[in-house]
Amino acid sequence: MSSMNAYLKEVFKWNKEMRDFLESENIDENNELWGKLDRITNVMDGITDQMSTDQLEEISEQVEELHEEMEAYFNDRLQLGNIYVNETSVPIGQHVLPPLPYGYNALEPYISEEIMRLHHDKHHQSYVDGLNKAEKELEKARRNSDFSLVKHWSRELAFHGSGHYLHTIFWNNMSPEGGGKPSGPLLKQIEKSFGSFEKFKNQFTAAAKEVEGVGWAILVWSPRARHLEILQSERHQLQTQWDTIPLLVLDVWEHAYYLQYKNNRGDYVANWWNIVNWQDVEQRFQHASQLKWKPA
Ligand SMILES: [Fe+2]
Repeated sequence: MSSMNAYLKEVFKWNKEMRDFLESENIDENNELWGKLDRITNVMDGITDQMSTDQLEEISEQVEELHEEMEAYFNDRLQLGNIYVNETSVPIGQHVLPPLPYGYNALEPYISEEIMRLHHDKHHQSYVDGLNKAEKELEKARRNSDFSLVKHWSRELAFHGSGHYLHTIFWNNMSPEGGGKPSGPLLKQIEKSFGSFEKFKNQFTAAAKEVEGVGWAILVWSPRARHLEILQSERHQLQTQWDTIPLLVLDVWEHAYYLQYKNNRGDYVANWWNIVNWQDVEQRFQHASQLKWKPA
C-alpha cells in the first residue's frame, strides 16, 4: 500500500504540473486536454482508504492511459518530446547579447565587417547592459518602495530596452542572401497599404533619410487598424506608435554607417535594400497578423 501511496502522490504532482503547463501555454479552456485532466482529478478524488487492490490498479490504468494520450498530444502538436516544459522567460536583469545570425563579414560589400563588429559587439552590448542595469535598479526600487529615481530608470529602461529589441530585430531583418522583394500575404498587404511595392520602398527610403538626428525607420503592423505603417523613431524610443508591432527596421544612427558611408546616409539606405531578409519579415508579419485587437 505504501508504494501505491507514493504512486498516487506522483500522479497528484504530475496533474498539478500539467495544469500549470497548460495555463502557461494558454491552452484554450475548451481543449480536450483540460477534460482529460479533469477526469484524472475526478478519479483521484474518488480514491478512499477502503479501496481494494483491484480498484486501485484499475485507477492506475486509467491514469496511465490518460498520461500516454497527453504525451502523444504534445509529441504530435509541439514536438516537445517532454511535457514538463515551461515557457522560457528572461529573468530580471539577465538579458544577453544574441549572436549575429551570420558572420561579421557576411553583409559585405554593403556593410563592412568593421562596422558589424563594432555595432554588434560594442553598441548592442551596451544596450543589453543598460537594460539589465535599469531592470535591476527598478527591481531594487520596488523592493525598497523608493521610487525617487523612477523617472531616470524608466527612461533608461525605454532607451536601452528599445535599443536591445530593435537591434535584435535588425540583425535578423538582414541576410547575405537578401534583396529582391517580398511575396505572398506580405506583398499583398504592402500593395494594399501603400499602393505598390515601389511606393512603399520610396516612402521607407524617404522616412529613413529624413529621421531627425539619430533613430530608425520602421515598418509596423497595426493590429488595431489592421494595416501597415512606416514610422520614424528618434533615438530608439521617441515618436513611436505604441500598440504596433515592428516588422522591418533600419538603423540610421551614424554608428550604423558612418565609418563606411561618412555622412552619406542616402547611399547607405539605398544599399541596405540589397540585404533585406524578406523571409524574416514575412514570418514576423505572419505572426503579427494573428494578433487582432478590437478595431477602433
Ligand atoms: Fe545601432
